[in-house]
Amino acid sequence: MWWLKDVWVIDPSQKVSGPQDVLVKGGQILEISSGMTEEEVLGKAQGESLETINGKGKFVFPGLIDVHTHLREPGQEDKEDILSGSRAAVRGGFTTILAMANTHPPIDSRALVEFVLRQGERAGYAHVLPIGTVTKGMQGSELVEMADMKAGGAAAFSDDGKNIQNPEVMRLALEYAKLTGFPIISHCEDKDLAGEGLMRRGVTSGRMGLRGIPASAESVIVARDLILAEETGGKLHLAHISTAESVELIRRAKARGVDVTAEVNPHHLIFCDEEIGITDTVLKVNPPLGSRGDREALIEGLADGTIDMIATDHAPHTQAEKTRPFAEAPFGIASLETALSAVWQYLVLPGRLSFDRVVEAWSVTPAQRFGLNGGTLKPGVSADMVLFDPDFKEEINSTTLVSKARNTPFLGKTWQGFPVMVWVEGRLVQRDRTVI
Ligand code: NCD
Ligand code: ZN
Repeated sequence: MWWLKDVWVIDPSQKVSGPQDVLVKGGQILEISSGMTEEEVLGKAQGESLETINGKGKFVFPGLIDVHTHLREPGQEDKEDILSGSRAAVRGGFTTILAMANTHPPIDSRALVEFVLRQGERAGYAHVLPIGTVTKGMQGSELVEMADMKAGGAAAFSDDGKNIQNPEVMRLALEYAKLTGFPIISHCEDKDLAGEGLMRRGVTSGRMGLRGIPASAESVIVARDLILAEETGGKLHLAHISTAESVELIRRAKARGVDVTAEVNPHHLIFCDEEIGITDTVLKVNPPLGSRGDREALIEGLADGTIDMIATDHAPHTQAEKTRPFAEAPFGIASLETALSAVWQYLVLPGRLSFDRVVEAWSVTPAQRFGLNGGTLKPGVSADMVLFDPDFKEEINSTTLVSKARNTPFLGKTWQGFPVMVWVEGRLVQRDRTVI
């Protein structure tokens, strides 16, 4: 049994934010209340061994749920695999991750869904839930067997990494996904507008002489998908929103009652295109980093609920690939282990976002939208839980990262504020930043 004493509990699912005691017993949340005495707690332990944690000055909240994680297995295990990725997840405070389908081969059949699920269970760290593709082979034409893949354990459908360019295919996908109750996760990027672009089109891309991707490459598809979601009544989830115009489109669609949710990645809340260096591909990411104005609109949209969720878009790549010339390096930032602390450093500490909103957007809302376990510390639920210490200091470096990837812009940074204990189903899987 665990007794977290005098800890600041953040559980937006129960509208709790304040100092409490938390008891975990038999893998479940037993009780959250204040002023428990040792005698009472020992009575409740009923012989189970008790570990008491002094939670003063620390936060506890439901484990984060990341709805956008690339784990690369099967097929590209040199970048990451399900074991290394799910260890990185619990190091970063995530107890559930949704594994994107753009593996090699893509997850477009029930057998492959079952493979990812099994590998996740075998790893035994975060819950790994497979996302299935929308179209066979991610080719954008023929829909997968959604009901069969759901029966095998798929949690959502997405061709992420690639836009569904044909609007009729997208319309049908939204229509058929209704039968599963799952959202279609859309990677909004018009292929022709994006062309061979390498970063956001603007003053910086012009100065650097790099081919640009206009903001409209995203917003045009956001607008299209919102129209299709409204027409079909299907559930739509927009991945990695990055432009001010997209935020505005979503705001208006929500006012009309469209069944849409959207996510934003930490890097789009923290960086903008001006910070990209020609010799440094670490900030080369898709969608590309936008302007300062985009960043502001994303922070505002997340704060006011227009953007529902934060998701990492953890996109691990090898150093060999990322050290190629800018034009040839792959898009992506690996972020599972740093994302929560980055949001703490760059957004919560400066007062741009409340920590309560972060927990809501990264745990409660993802659980509700995707119909998952977790996202709450209600008594009786399985204890997927994080203890966050705002005073814990660490340097982000190659030796401590457990992901296979090193493509993070934060290498060499020393921060204060990390998840220091993580439980999955009541089992401690990370302590003082060491994965157990
Ligand atoms: C992702 C990847 O590497 O798979 N890359 C990225 O820059 N985000 C694909 C994606 O999420 O679109
Ligand atoms: Zn994507």
